[in-house]
Amino acid sequence: MISSREIQNMQKNMVCLHTQQEVEVAIDRVAEAMNQTFSADDLPIFLCTMNGAVIFMGQLLPRLRFPLQIDYVHTARYYGTMHAGDLHWIAKPTTSLQDRIIVIVEDIIDSGITLARVIDYCEQQGAKKIYTAALVDKEHERSENGIETVDFAGLHVEDKFLLGYGLDYQGFFRNLPGIYAVQKPEGRE
Ligand code: IMP
Ligand code: MG
Repeated sequence: MISSREIQNMQKNMVCLHTQQEVEVAIDRVAEAMNQTFSADDLPIFLCTMNGAVIFMGQLLPRLRFPLQIDYVHTARYYGTMHAGDLHWIAKPTTSLQDRIIVIVEDIIDSGITLARVIDYCEQQGAKKIYTAALVDKEHERSENGIETVDFAGLHVEDKFLLGYGLDYQGFFRNLPGIYAVQKPEGRE
């Protein structure tokens, strides 16, 4: 695990790219777009991708004015293995997705692989229509196995390693009240 000294060093060297107020305005915009998109008859299921999207999801939902249900998925990507990029499923939704409208809520789209795999899963479960939302759309080249864009994006941010508002390094910094860019400690993945 990262040490408290490393955490403090990273915190000293990080740069705020978007303040809390800017993030909240972005969440307002996403909510407004969703309020225009969904009607009272749609009854979508909002799928929170744990853990990163928990803050975005929590701040988004009270801004939405149509009936909805929530559930969650929890996945992890394998890195540095023969199967780099494969998705490991920690938790799948317990609500039936059959014939339902799904909105997958992510903290960030980077290569686009996580969202592509979660979309595949929702399709296999018989979802009627699938939308994607990400608080941050990172200006990073997408993988050929990833999706290109999300239906609802909060902020478009340059290709740096980002922290805050759910985005983490080794599980820390998710609670930072803004979007920050940081150098990862040398030699760390
Ligand atoms: P993708 O599958 O490459 O699109 O990446 C999505 C996942 O990678 C996100 O859910 C995050 O957990 C993680 N991720 C990607 N970029 C960053 C970042 O800049 N900071 C923290 N986590 C990131
Ligand atoms: Mg994540």
